[in-house]
Order: sequence, then C-alpha cells, then structure tokens
Amino acid sequence: MLQDALAFGLEDDRINLEQGGSGAVAYGDAVATYLALAVSRFVDFSNVICSWDAGNTNLRQLFSRQAVPMAWDFVETNPLNGVVPVTAAFEWAASSLEALPARASGVVAQLDAAHLELTDRFLISTDPPYYDNIGYADLADIFYVWLRRALRGVYPQLTSTLLTPKSSELVATPYRFEGNRQKAAEFFEVGLGSAFTRCRALALDGYPVTVYYAFKQAEESESSESVASTGWETMLEGLLSAGFAVLGTWPMRTEQQQRSVAAGTNALASSIVLVCRPRPTDAPLATRKEFLGALHQELPGALRRLQQGNIAPVDLAQAAVGPGIGVFSRYAKVVEADGLAMTVRTALGLVNQVLDETLSEQESDFDRDSRWALAWFEESGMNPGPFGKAEILSKAKNTSIEGMVRAGLLESKAGNVRLLERGELDDDWNPTSDAHLTVWEVTQHLVRSLEVGGESGAAKLLREVGGLGETARELAYRLYVICERKKWAKEAMAYNGLVIAWPAIARLASSAAPSASSAERLF
Ligand SMILES: C[S@@+](CC[C@H](N)C(=O)[O-])C[C@H]1O[C@@H](n2cnc3c(N)ncnc32)[C@H](O)[C@@H]1O
Repeated sequence: MLQDALAFGLEDDRINLEQGGSGAVAYGDAVATYLALAVSRFVDFSNVICSWDAGNTNLRQLFSRQAVPMAWDFVETNPLNGVVPVTAAFEWAASSLEALPARASGVVAQLDAAHLELTDRFLISTDPPYYDNIGYADLADIFYVWLRRALRGVYPQLTSTLLTPKSSELVATPYRFEGNRQKAAEFFEVGLGSAFTRCRALALDGYPVTVYYAFKQAEESESSESVASTGWETMLEGLLSAGFAVLGTWPMRTEQQQRSVAAGTNALASSIVLVCRPRPTDAPLATRKEFLGALHQELPGALRRLQQGNIAPVDLAQAAVGPGIGVFSRYAKVVEADGLAMTVRTALGLVNQVLDETLSEQESDFDRDSRWALAWFEESGMNPGPFGKAEILSKAKNTSIEGMVRAGLLESKAGNVRLLERGELDDDWNPTSDAHLTVWEVTQHLVRSLEVGGESGAAKLLREVGGLGETARELAYRLYVICERKKWAKEAMAYNGLVIAWPAIARLASSAAPSASSAERLF
C-alpha cells in the first residue's frame, strides 16, 4: 500500500492519519479505515442474531432497528458466495464513499459535549441523544471490537479502551445507576443542560445554533414510561435555561420511510430542526395574559404559512410548536399569577391549546355540510350513529340530513346515519355537474383518486374542482389532526398522503388547461 501511495506522488512523511498526516502513511491509514468500515457492514450481516426474513426470503441483518433483539435461532450464510458475500460489504463502502458530496477535509474528535473546553468558537449544528431511546455506546461495541482489532495500529489513541467509553455518554440508562430510573433521567437532563450551556459559550456570534430532534419516534415508541417529562420538554427546558431563544422550528425529512420503526405506524418521517440564538440579556418579563395574547396574535399567521408551504400534516403540530415556543422564549420568563415562572410544560400546553383553536377557526372556510361531516367524523369516524344525534348536529350546523344524503355524503338507514366510505363513492362523480358540491366530497374524491389513479388521477380531478382544491387540502390537514388524536392511523395516512403529494398533483393539474372553477357554485 505504501508503494501505491508513493506511486501517486504522495510524500513519504511517516506521519500517520491520527497525528494529522497527509502523506503516504496517512493514505494507507485512510484505505485501512474504509476497509474496516466495510468489515463493520459485514458484521451486521454475519452474527448469531441475524434472523430469517420470511417476507423477503432472505437474511435479515442485526440492525434492522437500533437495538439488539432476542433471537432464538440464527441464519448463517457463506461469506464467500452467500447472499451477502464479504465483497458486497466492500462494494457498499466504496459506493457510499463515491456518493459522498463533501470533498473538503474534516476533523473528528471524540469529546464529551457536556464538558467541552475549546479555545475556538464554532458554528454549531447538533443532533443530541434522547433519554434512553438508543443505547449508542452499548450498540457500538458490536462494531468496535472488530474495528479495534483492525485499526489499533492506525488509531492507537482512539482505540486505547477495550470497549467504547460509557460513563460520559448522555443516555438515561437505569442499569448504569443500579436500576434507579430517576437518577438515570436526572443524569441525562443535567448533562444535556450542560451540553447546551457549552454550546451557548462556544457558538460563533452571528450564526444560529441548530438542534435536530426526531420527536415522535422517541416520544411514542421507545422512550421509557417512567421518565416524568418528555424528551421534547427536556430539550426545550435545556435550551432555554442555557440562555437560548428558539427562533423557529422546521421539519426536515431525515428518516427513511421504510425504517422498521416506521413500518405500519404513524411515526414522524422527519426531524424537527430548532433554530436558536442567544436570548438578549435585557429580554422582558411577561404575564400569562400577555403570553397568551401574543400566541393568539402570532400563531394563526404562522400556521397558515406552514400550510401554504405544504408541510406534511404529520409534522404540523410539532412544527407549530416552534412559533409558540419562539414567543415563550423571547421573554426572560413568563410570570404566573402566583409569582412563579411558567414551566415549559405549561407553555407547551398553552401553545397546543391555541393551535387547536386556530385549526378549529379555519373551519369557517368550509361549507355547512362539510362542517357537519367534520364534527360527525370526529365523534363517530365512518361508523354509524343514531339518527337523532345526527339531526341535532345538523340543526347546530344549519344543514339537513336529507340534503346531505342527496349530496352523496352519507347514508341514513334504519334509524342510523353514517358517512360514506371512500370505496362507496360514486365512480362517475363529476364535480362540474354536481349541483350540491361540498369540500368534504372533493377531499374524499381527491384522496380516492390519488389512491386509485395516482398523482395523475388526482390531478385530473383537481383541474375540475379548481380553487376548491385548496380548501380540500385545508380539510385534509384538519382531518389528519382528528385521526391522529383518535389513533386512526390508516385514515390519517390517507390525508397525510394527499398533502404530501399535493405539489406534484398541482403541477400536473396546471400543466393542462383548467376547466371552469367549481368554487363559485359551492356557497
Ligand atoms: C441522535 S444521535 C446522533 C446521530 C447522528 N446524527 C448520526 O446520524 O449518526 C446522538 C449522538 O450523541 C452521542 N453522545 C451521547 N453522549 C454524548 C456526550 N456526552 N458527548 C458527545 N456526544 C454524545 C451519541 O453517541 C450519539 O452518537
């Protein structure tokens, strides 16, 4: 290898990579590193926890999720010509390397974020750990023991420990605290707070600090129940007490849709990026009333902007927390009636409350029948309910059951009323000739056209309904929120799917001449 490097014209400076070399020896070290990474890939497919994936009729790697599961039996393939030969691991590493867009050199150091002592200041962008969500250091040992064997000569300093360092790892793992969950949670919270305080001290002036947070997946599926406060709250609490103000939160698609934690669930497909800057030292105090007033003033506009930007419904609630917490964190503190400072938990509760109110206010954009259907759906979903109840609701919404039956929204039979399922909708429905057009129908037909005919099918319909499509998209947001709250995952994904596909549908719809808009005939 040294000969190869010299043949490339690299200097024989005898300085290895760990010491900052860039000559022939360092080149050899780099090649050895990539080969070792390929070995890690191979380890994932060649161990006694690899199981059989009956669906794929193939071997399932160990890390199909970030945990080491129990396996009663394992699958072993031939490393030389099996389904995952060792050569495939090398090809994988090589193709990853070739695909990397970054060509500049970087510096990597293993340091404890909670106790960073550095002389320079930095632009900080960080993806911190979340409670006990993933035991990175424990899991890393599976690869580390092999990496250490292969790379001891290359990175003597980095591989000096027998296993990966554990004690400074910010993770709320009870077994490191004699089974005490409370102590484990405290360790994590205090450490995360210190890490943010160090960020505040080391961040370059003039640049925001960005923090990534994969909220939902951590909250709902894997975090420990006995941890009192949520990861989201801890994150915000840590940031605010380190002296940061949160200027915005942006959802960002960072997680693979097909990862196994997301399969069949409503798991958030993105991370939330928190954009933070130091809070001015002369930030004012506010009363609870002032805080609420500012929320009412600023959240509706912020929510509209997020929707206009076509944020996925699954991300809406989390993203809307940004502007809300932005309001909260601009004050030195919000003072409650009893003189105590408002907690992040209370602030989050109020933000969600105002968010709910704002979403409900958007209902005034819908026609009366659709408002009835929305309220009924929230109560009963697509299930039948008593006619009497439906009748009372129709009076409140100033509409009539017979009218809605005629409009093709629902069925009223044997003293029961129910909304029509999408599969029961009229195949030959034509919005241009429908004399009683509702946003509800438009939304349901758009979802169905998308499911059956794909984006081009939905685009054809969008062309026909014209401007009414935008109101249907708004209804899809609202329906998503209801389904999510009720845990109707399948139905939720249908509305989420419509919004996600919207830009493509709208593009296809506008690429052909639009027909006369149906919107005028609605009200
Ligand atoms: C959410 S993960 C970041 C994953 C990363 N974005 C990636 O795609 O690989 C959190 C990381 O924080 C690291 N970590 C935990 N405690 C730490 C500490 N005290 N100092 C620095 N890093 C720590 C974990 O090892 C883990 O790699």
